Amino acid sequence: MKKIVSFILALSLLAVCAVSFASCSKDDENVLKMATNAAFPPYEFYEGEKIVGIDAEIAELIAKDLGMTLQIVDTEFDSIITGVTEGKYDFGMAGMTVTEDRLKSVNFSTSYAKGVQVIIVKNDSPITSIDDLSADGATYKIGVQQGTTGDIYASDTPENGGFGEDRVTSFNSGAEAVLALTTGKVDCVIIDNEPAKSYVKTYEGLKILDTEYVEEDYAICVSKDNADLLKKINDSLKKNTENGEIQKIIDKYIKADSAE
Ligand code: ARG
Repeated sequence: MKKIVSFILALSLLAVCAVSFASCSKDDENVLKMATNAAFPPYEFYEGEKIVGIDAEIAELIAKDLGMTLQIVDTEFDSIITGVTEGKYDFGMAGMTVTEDRLKSVNFSTSYAKGVQVIIVKNDSPITSIDDLSADGATYKIGVQQGTTGDIYASDTPENGGFGEDRVTSFNSGAEAVLALTTGKVDCVIIDNEPAKSYVKTYEGLKILDTEYVEEDYAICVSKDNADLLKKINDSLKKNTENGEIQKIIDKYIKADSAE
């Protein structure tokens, strides 16, 4: 019995060592750690076990320019900025919009893409425009992804162009918000246009309203304490914009067939 116990002890010790060794090598200086929220096609999503998409591939170019190995961590969108300010990640890249408020906590790179907030409804929805949502007495429920700009705008007071917190339900991912729309838990979803297109393709019976809600710039966020990394990221973005590499990536994921 004693022998078995000590054998198990030895085994678990071995396991602990193996784990700490692995985390040691992960903290390697040469790893560039990116935080994202990988349910946001075509910017970041899973293909099997792998996170792919526009952001993943642009980040790969940046890591290459820096001579580093990219590691992508999938986390809640809401926790990316805190994680970056705490130094848990080197940068955040998640189709993230530059906002005044976020600029108080982090720095942003130059913008590498534009986004537009749009409204998804069911094909047979009585909602035909943004005005239907803000009309007097309207009670339509709005689904959003927690902590996104869609959430921030929609939850704002009617005086500020929002619909009020009570009408907004926030979900962990855009995909969950869209699922709630298909099951009738919310009446519409406010989300960025490219993921919206992708969700509408995936789920039957949904459409995007013509009204464009708000235009935004996507950029990479970096800790305010890491001016050096921000500069390197900006240099790499500039180079890869000028040589057309970034456009190639965008074209690969966003086909020119966006007639919908
Ligand atoms: N552009 C919006 C924002 O910055 C939504 C981004 C959501 N990104 C994601 N990977 N889930 O708030």
